[in-house]
Amino acid sequence: MPNIVVVGAQWGDEGKGKVVDVLTPHVDVVVRYQGGNNAGHTVVVGKEKFVLQSIPSGILHRGCRCVIGCGVVINPASLIDEMEALVQRGVSLDGNLYISKNAHLVMPYHPALDRAAESQAGKRRIGTTGKGVGPAYADKAARVGIRMADLLDEQLFREKLEFNIRQKNRLLREIYDAEEFTVEGILGPYLRYAGWLAPYITDTALLLSRWIDGGASVMFEGAQGTLLDVDHGTYPFITSSSTTAGGACTGTGVPPTKIHGALGISKAYCTRVGGGPFPSEISGEIADLLRTRGNEFGSVTGRPRRCGWVDAVGLRYAARINGLDAFAITKLDVLDACETVKICVGYRYRGEVFTEFPEEERIWHEAEPVYEEWSGWQSATHGMRDYAELPTKAREYLERLSEIVGVGIALVSTGPVRDDTIIVAGSALPRWFPSLGASGAQ
Ligand code: IMP
Repeated sequence: MPNIVVVGAQWGDEGKGKVVDVLTPHVDVVVRYQGGNNAGHTVVVGKEKFVLQSIPSGILHRGCRCVIGCGVVINPASLIDEMEALVQRGVSLDGNLYISKNAHLVMPYHPALDRAAESQAGKRRIGTTGKGVGPAYADKAARVGIRMADLLDEQLFREKLEFNIRQKNRLLREIYDAEEFTVEGILGPYLRYAGWLAPYITDTALLLSRWIDGGASVMFEGAQGTLLDVDHGTYPFITSSSTTAGGACTGTGVPPTKIHGALGISKAYCTRVGGGPFPSEISGEIADLLRTRGNEFGSVTGRPRRCGWVDAVGLRYAARINGLDAFAITKLDVLDACETVKICVGYRYRGEVFTEFPEEERIWHEAEPVYEEWSGWQSATHGMRDYAELPTKAREYLERLSEIVGVGIALVSTGPVRDDTIIVAGSALPRWFPSLGASGAQ
């Protein structure tokens, strides 16, 4: 049974939640491997909308085992809220949610440090979600982080907390002039969270290994996107985790030899939330149209997303870094109203055109996008479920994008609900999951 990584190919918010939800019935396990409650994976089931932050989107399917891997950072209060909200809406968590002992905790001082650092960053402000994810990963790398396993060992937890509080309070007081924390103020609530979460905390790397050896199929659900990766993204305007397919191994303990493929998710256009470079960003009427039609407002923070044309330079890079076998293109229907549609095929910088994604911050900031322009299809694709049904111009647009990027398209999403989905015949998806069924070759 194949083990597949589903990874964002842009700056996040590509619609990974919906794609994971569509594919979940064909796998046994869904595992999150990085990020934290900075993510917001939206899944629409019938008339109900769910926004998942730390729990894998597979949880909405009864019988699917869901794992929060060691690469995730967990804010326990937020996770418990998320769990309770799901249970209240009839979603079962009994025996199907597993949390890694090695996952690091987001502590109350992390969001405080995140916000304090941002408030003093001036024009180098990243525009973080303010959830403390960056400082939590910083502590992990600095070897002072506190893990889920520590939460279950009161003495060790207190010891680590006391050490951290001394350091963090000094930082908060002397550098940021911000409020301090007390050990007792954190210990009480965190020990309560420990009691709540204990039944779910386990050695998930061992479980995954046993399940895979037993023939289970695992889907790795990435959060954020390739261009926000701590190593491969538009550093420093990134999140602090390994969002790319490689992170699926380090963030779960599943070795690369057990992973069989990678599916990249991209919108038919592009968005970014927060600061940082975005070469194909647009403003004005068309940007407003994309934002309104695509409901481009952060699912966690509500912030309006910056909008632009699809960036084939970035997608080619994502294909290379993640070893993508195929793309899923989401929100095609958002472009239905556009008179013309554009694909960014290069970055022009000081007279030179870059078709490979550059690594220099200055180029990302100052490059002019080079576009191919196509006339739009200007008819409704919303809700279409058959590739052959798509207007010719929409198919030509997708096929040209796929040609430039050098990777086939396996799925096209034409609306938020599960069924508004085209699985492309002959593509990687029906090969991996023959039970998926497919419609019309690309
Ligand atoms: P952080 O992850 O909160 O530290 O934020 C760092 C950068 O990543 C900011 O630009 C955020 O807007 C962006 N970011 C974090 N999570 C998401 C996400 O789930 N979708 C899109 N952007 C995100």
